[in-house]
Amino acid sequence: MTAQERPAPPAIDASVAHPARRYDYWLGGKDNFAADRESGDAIAATFPAIRTAVVENRRFLRRAVSYLAGSCGVRQFLDIGTGLPTADNTHEVAQRVAPEARVVYVDNDPLVLVHARALLTGTGPGETAYVDADLRDPARILRDAAATLDFSEPIALMLIAVLHFIPEEDDPYAVVRTLTGALPPGSFVAISHATSDYLPPEVAAELHSGKHGQGRLRTRPEFTRFFDGLDLLSPGVVPLSEWRDDAEDRTRPAPEETAMYAAVARVP
Ligand SMILES: C[S@@+](CC[C@H](N)C(=O)[O-])C[C@H]1O[C@@H](n2cnc3c(N)ncnc32)[C@H](O)[C@@H]1O
Repeated sequence: MTAQERPAPPAIDASVAHPARRYDYWLGGKDNFAADRESGDAIAATFPAIRTAVVENRRFLRRAVSYLAGSCGVRQFLDIGTGLPTADNTHEVAQRVAPEARVVYVDNDPLVLVHARALLTGTGPGETAYVDADLRDPARILRDAAATLDFSEPIALMLIAVLHFIPEEDDPYAVVRTLTGALPPGSFVAISHATSDYLPPEVAAELHSGKHGQGRLRTRPEFTRFFDGLDLLSPGVVPLSEWRDDAEDRTRPAPEETAMYAAVARVP
Protein backbone atom coordinates (compact mmCIF):
# COMPACT_ATOMS: atom_id res chain seq x y z
CA MET A 1 0.00 0.00 0.00
CA THR A 2 1.36 3.45 -0.85
CA ALA A 3 1.12 6.63 1.24
CA GLN A 4 -1.54 7.86 -1.17
CA GLU A 5 -3.82 4.93 -0.32
CA ARG A 6 -3.51 4.60 3.47
CA PRO A 7 -4.45 7.09 6.20
CA ALA A 8 -1.45 9.05 7.44
CA PRO A 9 0.05 7.73 10.70
CA PRO A 10 -0.51 10.21 13.57
CA ALA A 11 3.02 11.64 13.55
CA ILE A 12 2.74 12.44 9.88
CA ASP A 13 1.16 15.75 8.92
CA ALA A 14 -0.32 15.24 5.47
CA SER A 15 -1.67 18.79 5.34
CA VAL A 16 1.69 20.53 4.97
CA ALA A 17 4.19 19.84 2.15
CA HIS A 18 7.36 18.05 3.27
CA PRO A 19 10.60 18.16 1.24
CA ALA A 20 11.04 14.35 1.20
CA ARG A 21 7.49 13.71 -0.08
CA ARG A 22 7.55 16.56 -2.60
CA TYR A 23 10.86 15.24 -3.94
CA ASP A 24 9.30 11.76 -4.17
CA TYR A 25 6.46 13.31 -6.21
CA TRP A 26 8.87 14.95 -8.67
CA LEU A 27 10.71 11.64 -9.01
CA GLY A 28 7.44 9.91 -9.92
CA GLY A 29 7.04 8.10 -6.58
CA LYS A 30 3.81 7.28 -4.74
CA ASP A 31 4.74 8.29 -1.20
CA ASN A 32 3.29 11.78 -1.20
CA PHE A 33 0.08 13.59 -0.27
CA ALA A 34 -2.06 16.28 -1.95
CA ALA A 35 -0.20 19.10 -0.13
CA ASP A 36 3.13 17.78 -1.44
CA ARG A 37 1.82 17.54 -5.00
CA GLU A 38 0.34 21.05 -4.86
CA SER A 39 3.61 22.46 -3.54
CA GLY A 40 5.55 20.46 -6.15
CA ASP A 41 3.35 21.80 -8.92
CA ALA A 42 3.68 25.38 -7.63
CA ILE A 43 7.48 25.10 -7.70
CA ALA A 44 7.33 23.49 -11.16
CA ALA A 45 5.22 26.44 -12.36
CA THR A 46 8.03 28.77 -11.23
CA PHE A 47 10.94 26.54 -12.22
CA PRO A 48 9.71 24.16 -14.96
CA ALA A 49 13.00 22.21 -15.09
CA ILE A 50 12.61 20.94 -11.50
CA ARG A 51 12.05 17.32 -12.57
CA THR A 52 15.20 17.40 -14.69
CA ALA A 53 17.02 18.81 -11.67
CA VAL A 54 15.93 16.05 -9.27
CA VAL A 55 16.69 13.26 -11.75
CA GLU A 56 20.13 14.79 -12.32
CA ASN A 57 20.62 15.02 -8.56
CA ARG A 58 19.98 11.27 -8.25
CA ARG A 59 22.45 10.66 -11.08
CA PHE A 60 25.04 12.72 -9.20
CA LEU A 61 24.41 10.69 -6.05
CA ARG A 62 24.98 7.45 -7.99
CA ARG A 63 28.17 8.72 -9.62
CA ALA A 64 29.54 10.08 -6.35
CA VAL A 65 28.85 6.90 -4.36
CA SER A 66 30.24 4.66 -7.15
CA TYR A 67 33.36 6.80 -7.41
CA LEU A 68 33.90 6.93 -3.66
CA ALA A 69 33.36 3.19 -3.19
CA GLY A 70 35.25 2.27 -6.37
CA SER A 71 38.16 4.62 -7.09
CA CYS A 72 38.55 5.92 -3.52
CA GLY A 73 37.97 2.60 -1.73
CA VAL A 74 35.51 4.03 0.81
CA ARG A 75 33.61 1.38 2.78
CA GLN A 76 31.56 3.57 5.14
CA PHE A 77 28.91 6.16 4.25
CA LEU A 78 27.01 8.64 6.42
CA ASP A 79 24.08 9.81 4.25
CA ILE A 80 22.23 12.72 5.88
CA GLY A 81 18.93 13.82 4.30
CA THR A 82 18.28 10.35 2.96
CA GLY A 83 14.86 10.92 1.40
CA LEU A 84 12.23 8.28 0.76
CA PRO A 85 13.51 5.04 -0.71
CA THR A 86 13.80 5.17 -4.49
CA ALA A 87 15.90 3.51 -7.18
CA ASP A 88 19.58 3.13 -6.34
CA ASN A 89 19.68 4.14 -2.71
CA THR A 90 23.16 4.84 -1.36
CA HIS A 91 23.64 1.38 0.21
CA GLU A 92 22.59 -0.35 -3.02
CA VAL A 93 25.08 1.63 -5.11
CA ALA A 94 27.88 1.25 -2.55
CA GLN A 95 27.25 -2.45 -1.91
CA ARG A 96 27.21 -3.19 -5.66
CA VAL A 97 30.82 -2.01 -5.69
CA ALA A 98 31.76 -3.27 -2.21
CA PRO A 99 29.32 -5.72 -0.60
CA GLU A 100 30.90 -5.08 2.79
CA ALA A 101 30.09 -1.33 2.69
CA ARG A 102 28.32 0.07 5.77
CA VAL A 103 25.78 2.88 5.42
CA VAL A 104 24.09 5.01 8.08
CA TYR A 105 21.10 6.99 6.86
CA VAL A 106 19.84 10.07 8.72
CA ASP A 107 16.65 12.05 8.13
CA ASN A 108 14.20 14.05 10.25
CA ASP A 109 11.04 13.23 8.28
CA PRO A 110 8.55 10.89 10.02
CA LEU A 111 7.53 9.23 6.74
CA VAL A 112 11.16 8.50 5.90
CA LEU A 113 11.37 6.86 9.33
CA VAL A 114 8.32 4.71 8.51
CA HIS A 115 10.02 3.60 5.30
CA ALA A 116 13.42 3.15 6.90
CA ARG A 117 12.82 -0.56 7.13
CA ALA A 118 12.84 -0.74 3.34
CA LEU A 119 16.29 0.81 3.38
CA LEU A 120 17.63 -1.71 5.87
CA THR A 121 17.88 -4.48 3.38
CA GLY A 122 21.58 -4.80 2.76
CA THR A 123 22.03 -8.23 1.30
CA GLY A 124 25.74 -8.84 1.57
CA PRO A 125 28.04 -8.68 4.57
CA GLY A 126 27.53 -4.90 4.68
CA GLU A 127 25.37 -3.17 7.25
CA THR A 128 22.72 -0.48 6.92
CA ALA A 129 21.32 1.57 9.81
CA TYR A 130 18.90 4.46 10.18
CA VAL A 131 19.09 7.40 12.58
CA ASP A 132 15.99 9.57 13.09
CA ALA A 133 17.68 12.94 13.66
CA ASP A 134 17.97 16.51 12.48
CA LEU A 135 21.00 17.71 10.52
CA ARG A 136 21.06 20.72 12.86
CA ASP A 137 22.03 18.37 15.71
CA PRO A 138 25.33 17.02 14.36
CA ALA A 139 26.59 15.90 17.79
CA ARG A 140 23.63 13.54 18.15
CA ILE A 141 24.12 12.24 14.58
CA LEU A 142 27.79 11.52 15.24
CA ARG A 143 27.00 9.75 18.52
CA ASP A 144 24.31 7.53 16.99
CA ALA A 145 26.26 6.83 13.77
CA ALA A 146 29.19 5.57 15.85
CA ALA A 147 27.12 2.46 16.71
CA THR A 148 27.55 1.33 13.07
CA LEU A 149 30.49 3.28 11.63
CA ASP A 150 34.13 3.07 12.73
CA PHE A 151 35.33 6.66 13.06
CA SER A 152 38.98 5.58 12.87
CA GLU A 153 38.47 4.50 9.24
CA PRO A 154 37.54 6.75 6.26
CA ILE A 155 33.87 7.70 5.97
CA ALA A 156 32.09 9.43 3.09
CA LEU A 157 29.70 12.08 4.39
CA MET A 158 26.87 12.56 1.90
CA LEU A 159 24.90 15.81 2.09
CA ILE A 160 22.91 15.49 -1.11
CA ALA A 161 20.25 18.13 -1.71
CA VAL A 162 19.76 18.77 2.00
CA LEU A 163 21.85 21.79 3.02
CA HIS A 164 19.60 24.16 1.06
CA PHE A 165 16.92 23.42 3.69
CA ILE A 166 19.16 24.90 6.41
CA PRO A 167 18.94 28.70 6.62
CA GLU A 168 21.84 30.93 7.68
CA GLU A 169 20.39 31.39 11.18
CA ASP A 170 20.92 27.66 11.82
CA ASP A 171 24.59 28.05 10.76
CA PRO A 172 24.92 25.26 8.19
CA TYR A 173 28.66 25.98 7.93
CA ALA A 174 29.16 25.16 11.62
CA VAL A 175 27.08 21.99 11.15
CA VAL A 176 29.31 20.84 8.27
CA ARG A 177 32.47 21.77 10.23
CA THR A 178 31.31 19.71 13.22
CA LEU A 179 30.60 16.70 11.01
CA THR A 180 33.79 16.88 8.94
CA GLY A 181 35.82 17.59 12.09
CA ALA A 182 34.80 14.17 13.40
CA LEU A 183 35.94 12.32 10.26
CA PRO A 184 39.40 10.77 10.12
CA PRO A 185 41.91 11.91 7.45
CA GLY A 186 41.23 10.27 4.09
CA SER A 187 37.46 10.67 4.52
CA PHE A 188 35.32 12.45 1.95
CA VAL A 189 32.42 14.88 1.80
CA ALA A 190 29.99 14.96 -1.15
CA ILE A 191 27.52 17.85 -1.40
CA SER A 192 24.90 18.92 -3.91
CA HIS A 193 22.97 22.14 -3.36
CA ALA A 194 20.47 24.39 -5.14
CA THR A 195 21.85 27.69 -6.42
CA SER A 196 20.40 31.01 -7.54
CA ASP A 197 23.33 31.59 -9.93
CA TYR A 198 21.58 30.19 -13.00
CA LEU A 199 18.06 31.40 -12.19
CA PRO A 200 16.36 34.60 -13.30
CA PRO A 201 16.14 36.92 -10.25
CA GLU A 202 12.34 36.70 -10.13
CA VAL A 203 12.48 32.88 -9.97
CA ALA A 204 15.06 32.97 -7.18
CA ALA A 205 12.95 35.56 -5.34
CA GLU A 206 9.85 33.36 -5.60
CA LEU A 207 11.74 30.30 -4.31
CA HIS A 208 13.05 32.42 -1.41
CA SER A 209 9.65 33.88 -0.62
CA GLY A 210 8.87 31.32 2.08
CA LYS A 211 5.73 30.23 0.20
CA HIS A 212 7.40 26.91 -0.65
CA GLY A 213 8.77 26.24 2.81
CA GLN A 214 12.09 27.05 4.36
CA GLY A 215 15.07 27.04 2.04
CA ARG A 216 18.12 28.95 0.92
CA LEU A 217 19.60 28.91 -2.58
CA ARG A 218 23.33 29.59 -2.36
CA THR A 219 25.77 31.24 -4.75
CA ARG A 220 28.96 29.59 -5.91
CA PRO A 221 31.13 31.28 -3.22
CA GLU A 222 28.55 30.38 -0.55
CA PHE A 223 28.50 26.74 -1.73
CA THR A 224 32.29 26.59 -1.96
CA ARG A 225 32.56 27.78 1.66
CA PHE A 226 31.20 24.40 2.82
CA PHE A 227 34.55 22.92 1.71
CA ASP A 228 36.80 25.33 3.63
CA GLY A 229 39.76 23.39 5.02
CA LEU A 230 39.07 20.37 2.76
CA ASP A 231 40.78 19.34 -0.51
CA LEU A 232 38.35 19.56 -3.42
CA LEU A 233 38.65 16.66 -5.84
CA SER A 234 38.76 17.33 -9.58
CA PRO A 235 36.69 18.83 -11.22
CA GLY A 236 36.00 21.03 -8.16
CA VAL A 237 32.74 22.94 -7.80
CA VAL A 238 30.68 22.41 -10.94
CA PRO A 239 27.05 22.41 -12.11
CA LEU A 240 25.63 19.10 -10.93
CA SER A 241 25.54 17.31 -14.30
CA GLU A 242 29.18 18.08 -15.00
CA TRP A 243 30.60 16.21 -12.02
CA ARG A 244 32.55 13.24 -13.41
CA ASP A 245 29.96 12.21 -15.96
CA ASP A 246 31.76 10.44 -18.77
CA ALA A 247 28.63 8.87 -20.30
CA GLU A 248 28.81 9.58 -23.99
CA ASP A 249 25.30 8.45 -24.86
CA ARG A 250 23.36 11.35 -23.40
CA THR A 251 23.03 15.08 -23.71
CA ARG A 252 23.73 16.71 -20.39
CA PRO A 253 21.24 19.37 -19.31
CA ALA A 254 22.46 22.96 -19.19
CA PRO A 255 23.28 24.42 -15.72
CA GLU A 256 20.07 26.49 -15.97
CA GLU A 257 18.05 23.24 -16.03
CA THR A 258 19.41 21.92 -12.76
CA ALA A 259 20.37 25.11 -10.91
CA MET A 260 22.46 23.00 -8.55
CA TYR A 261 26.15 22.77 -7.73
CA ALA A 262 28.00 19.64 -6.73
CA ALA A 263 31.46 18.85 -5.43
CA VAL A 264 33.35 16.16 -3.53
CA ALA A 265 36.28 16.89 -1.24
CA ARG A 266 38.80 14.88 0.77
CA VAL A 267 39.44 15.42 4.45
CA PRO A 268 43.21 16.09 4.74
C1 LIG B 1 15.47 16.75 -1.56
S1 LIG B 1 15.51 15.39 -0.47
C2 LIG B 1 17.05 14.63 -0.95
C3 LIG B 1 17.08 13.14 -0.75
C4 LIG B 1 18.39 12.47 -1.15
N1 LIG B 1 19.50 12.96 -0.36
C5 LIG B 1 18.66 12.70 -2.61
O1 LIG B 1 19.46 13.60 -2.90
O2 LIG B 1 18.10 12.03 -3.45
C6 LIG B 1 15.94 16.18 1.05
C7 LIG B 1 15.85 15.29 2.28
O3 LIG B 1 16.45 15.99 3.38
C8 LIG B 1 15.63 15.80 4.53
N2 LIG B 1 15.85 16.95 5.42
C9 LIG B 1 15.50 18.24 5.22
N3 LIG B 1 15.87 18.98 6.28
C10 LIG B 1 16.48 18.13 7.16
C11 LIG B 1 17.07 18.28 8.45
N4 LIG B 1 17.12 19.48 9.04
N5 LIG B 1 17.58 17.20 9.06
C12 LIG B 1 17.54 15.97 8.47
N6 LIG B 1 16.99 15.76 7.24
C13 LIG B 1 16.46 16.82 6.61
C14 LIG B 1 14.21 15.74 3.99
O4 LIG B 1 13.35 15.09 4.90
C15 LIG B 1 14.43 14.97 2.71
O5 LIG B 1 14.32 13.58 2.93
